[in-house]
Order: sequence, then structure tokens, then C-alpha cells
Amino acid sequence: MAEVLRYRREDRRAVDALYRRVFGIDAAESSRLRWEWQYSRNPNNPGHEPEIWVAHEGPAVVGQYATMPVRLSLGGREVQGSWGMDVMVAPERQRQGLGEVLFRTWDRNVGASLGLGLSDSSYRLFQKLRWPDVGPVPCFVKPLTRRALRRPEWPVLVNRLVSAVTLPLIRIISRPRPLTAEVRILHRFDDSFTALWESLAPKFDLAVRRDAAYLNWKFTGAPHVRYWIAALRRQDRNVGYAVYRHLHEPRGRVTLLVDFLADPEDEDGVTTLLGWVDREARRADSDKIRTFAMHAGFRRLIRKSGYFQVKSTMEFVVKVNAVELPPSFYEGTDRWHVTLGDSDQDR
Ligand SMILES: CC(C)(COP(=O)(O)OP(=O)(O)OC[C@H]1O[C@@H](n2cnc3c(N)ncnc32)[C@H](O)[C@@H]1OP(=O)(O)O)[C@@H](O)C(=O)NCCC(=O)NCCS
Repeated sequence: MAEVLRYRREDRRAVDALYRRVFGIDAAESSRLRWEWQYSRNPNNPGHEPEIWVAHEGPAVVGQYATMPVRLSLGGREVQGSWGMDVMVAPERQRQGLGEVLFRTWDRNVGASLGLGLSDSSYRLFQKLRWPDVGPVPCFVKPLTRRALRRPEWPVLVNRLVSAVTLPLIRIISRPRPLTAEVRILHRFDDSFTALWESLAPKFDLAVRRDAAYLNWKFTGAPHVRYWIAALRRQDRNVGYAVYRHLHEPRGRVTLLVDFLADPEDEDGVTTLLGWVDREARRADSDKIRTFAMHAGFRRLIRKSGYFQVKSTMEFVVKVNAVELPPSFYEGTDRWHVTLGDSDQDR
């Protein structure tokens, strides 16, 4: 019978070895690069003790649930939330109930248990355990060049035809528009972003607290990716931000709008931030911009700015334990703010 305990430093080698077996060498190497930052430096981890549970069987490690503590705001009221991330069970011990023991141990210890972008097996286990399923988080793409619609599985001629037919539309969608507010590149988030978060928190029925400590940890301190940060400014005050990066994908160059915040009713402000990201994406020669958004106000402005909604694979489950909520809470997600920057999705 396995025993589940909080992670101790001496578990590291056995956990790493299990990670390699379950997820493969490449994933293990990239996890190793992120590990200290992800688990020890999270500002929501006061004692710097990784929020990881490990399943032991005698001297062997047979499973783990590694998670990311966050402050979860429910309309401004905060509970201790936790993103479940790297959950794994040794291949020879899967489908014997150990995953369920790990999920329940984690859930018992946190005020809200959250999962984003799940593998098929963990998604099914969340469903089996009846976690409220509110996903997927809608995904939006804005084409900027005719290469944006290319598909590797299509013959060259079909790709050329699609490019030629859609080019006039893409030119209209991607035409530069003037920005109506000031935008400034930042290297760090200062305390004014904590004040901004506090003023906006009541507008979101569910969102991770985006204070300066969290934002700096997540978007300026990550060892595996480099982000650009743009601040939206009015009357010398920061009233929003966008976090983005450019990358090569097999199908072309993409700008990811990873995270953003502004008053969802501030149409000019949100549109200006999106317009800024357009410019940056064009400067980086991206074929398209991709983003994820849940809030109905943001979704509307994203569509209005030329994005199309596409199929999303970013499944989202959440279960709030710390406060009593009616089942209807999980049905009305229009005022929830969840992005690709949440959990460890952008890795
Ligand atoms: C996800 C995981 C931790 C579950 O652990 P487990 O010990 O196998 O889970 P349990 O035995 O407690 O629960 C089994 C349930 O999980 C789901 N499940 C687990 N593996 C599955 C698979 N390969 N295909 C479909 N469903 C699966 C099913 O709901 C299953 O119920 P069933 O057996 O009645 O069909 C384990 O499958 C694993 O390590 N997977 C590989 C790593 C991974 O994908 N991690 C998630 C990253 S987001």
C-alpha cells in the first residue's frame, strides 16, 4: 500500500527518475530547468517548501502530484488555490487507484483545486472524481499573413489557393490601427500593479490574484522563456498590461499573447493593448497571434480586434473547497479571467 507524504529534498532523485520514465527525457530535462523557480521561488509558497505530494511504496517512489499555489480571488474574496500540474503514477502502478489517492490528498489540503490543459488520462480522472468541468478556455487566433492559414497536410496547390483567396480578408483584418492610449514596455511590475489588481479584482468572479510579486515571479523570473511586457497607461498611471512572446512553430511564426489585465469594460484600453500586440507581432514577422480568454468582455473585444475563435484544447476544471458555493457558480463563467499565463501552460 502506497503512503503519500509531502515532498522532502531527499526525494528529488527518485522523483526525477520517475518523471523521466513517465514523461520522457526531453520533458524531464525541461522540467529540471524550471524546477527551482517553479516550486521553490513561487511567492505564494511562504516557506519555500514545494507544494508536492509524493507516493512511496517501501523505498520506491511510485507517484507524485506537483502543484502551484496561488491566491484565488472569487470576486475579490481570496482563498488559497492550487494548480495541479505534474501528476504521475509509475506505469506499472497505473489504473490501480493511486492517482485518485494523490488527487484527493492534494484537494483535501487546498482551498481550491484547479487544473488547466490536462492530459487525456488526468482529464478523465478529474471527470471520474466529479470535479466541476468548466472548460475548455476559449482560444482565439488573429491571422497576420497569408502563411497563417497554411496546413502542412494540404498539398502545395491547395495551400496556394487558400492563401490567394483569403489574402484580401487578411489584409483588412491585419491592417494597422492607431493606438488611442499610451503603451510602455516594462522590465518589471512595480507595486502599482498590485493596486491595479486590487481595484479590478471585484470585476472577476474567479481569477488568480495578479499582484506584482506573482507577476514578477511568473513573467520576469521564469528561466525557460523570455516575455515582453507592455503597460497600458493613462494620466501617468498603469491601468493594464499585456505579456507576450514570439516563437517558431512547425507551421510558422506565432506571437502568443500569454496574459493580460485591464478593466474588461475599458474598451479603448483593451483594444489599445491588443493593437500594441499586433504591432509587435508584425515587427517580429509573426504569421498569427494566439491567445486564450474566458471573460465575456475580453472575448468580445478580442473578436472585435480581428481574432477568430478556434478549437481549444485547454481544458479547465476547478473545485472550490474553502467557501460554500452553489453548483450554478460553475455554470456562469462569463466573469472569470483565465489565460494561457495561468498554471504552467506556457512552457
Ligand atoms: C493521470 C494518472 C496520474 C492517473 O493515475 P492512475 O493511478 O492511473 O489513476 P487511478 O487508477 O486512480 O484512476 C484511474 C482513472 O483515471 C483515468 N485514466 C487513467 N489512465 C487513463 C488512460 N490511460 N486513459 C483513459 N483514462 C485514464 C480513468 O478515469 C481511470 O478510471 P477507470 O480505470 O475506471 O477507467 C496516470 O494515468 C499517469 O501518470 N498518466 C501519465 C502522466 C500524465 O498524463 N499526467 C497528467 C499530466 S496533466
